[in-house]
Amino acid sequence: HLPKHVTLKEVGPRDGLQNEKVHMATADKVQLVDLLSQTGLNYIEVTSFVHPKWIPQLADAVEVLQAIKREKDITYAALIPNLRGLERALQANIDEASVFMSASESHNQNNINKTVTETFPVLEEVVLGAKAAGKRVRGYISTVIGCPYEGYIQPEQVLRVADKLLEMDVAEISLGDTIGVGVPTQVERLLEELLKRYPAEKFAMHFHDTRGTALTNIVKSLEMGITKFDSALGGLGGCPYAKGASGNVATEDLLYLFDEMGIHTGIEMNAVLEAATFVEKKLGKPVASKQMAIVRNE
Ligand code: HMG
Ligand code: MG
Repeated sequence: HLPKHVTLKEVGPRDGLQNEKVHMATADKVQLVDLLSQTGLNYIEVTSFVHPKWIPQLADAVEVLQAIKREKDITYAALIPNLRGLERALQANIDEASVFMSASESHNQNNINKTVTETFPVLEEVVLGAKAAGKRVRGYISTVIGCPYEGYIQPEQVLRVADKLLEMDVAEISLGDTIGVGVPTQVERLLEELLKRYPAEKFAMHFHDTRGTALTNIVKSLEMGITKFDSALGGLGGCPYAKGASGNVATEDLLYLFDEMGIHTGIEMNAVLEAATFVEKKLGKPVASKQMAIVRNE
């Protein structure tokens, strides 16, 4: 009863790098995205158009997007908080706009400096503007299971935000366990609530692996009909405005799981490992994935 095909959405160049202290040169970011474009992935979140003071690492968003070699079947996306960000993103000719907010009040305020209620009209402007420019729009909801300030988050809080984003007619919602606290029973409870109201195609899951529960949460999500998963090569990532958040589930570890389960992704393990090796060299430290640990030990 498990799906035969799934889609991996690579967020390494954005979520992966946004929390890295070592500054990566623009040319290296471009090379990284170009390597990822050769892996069989069909979705890459390249960067973000947030305020450069908040996320200095991604201040070169326009330059990176303008320099990458675009493959025709790949969607190159970016994170966008407001109209100012959308302006810059359209200049850089993104394929898809990702708007984002949190299910929890305090993470939303710490991350984007607004209450949840104040955020809706800001995102709505971005959604309308992006659509008017012919772009697909994705919505992220962060802290869907736990918040670094408020603890466990009830599914009803997530539903409230999902309702609004889907009213804005975003194409899909990525549900983020931002600080990686979730376990399968909580994922089940959350998805049960959302899937009463909306079809599984409307959702992607975005797990951070802080406590080693990402893969088990992904299998639970698969069993519940979800077929889209965000991941970051090397298991990089984290949100600087969510204390205790560590890396995303690693693309290569997720790929191992799907390959061995006979679930098709279209992605080449060796090509992902090559990109992860490149990142490791540029950041000057070993990345966190299990697959890369195996490569290092060979
Ligand atoms: P603010 O300071 O409230 O913004 O920041 P403002 O609207 O009051 O504007 C202040 C000044 O900033 C103005 O300039 C604006 O033009 C400028 P001034 O008039 O004073 O000269 N400004 C901008 N400049 C460049 N680009 C922009 C922009 N916007 C305003 N886009 C803001 C509000 C949202 C911008 C800020 O809080 C911010 O950038 N936050 C981003 C934080 C962030 O990137 N967090 C990580 C990503 S979320 C995440 O990782 C979770 C996720 O992975 C899912 C998961 O894991 O759960 C997605
Ligand atoms: Mg994230």
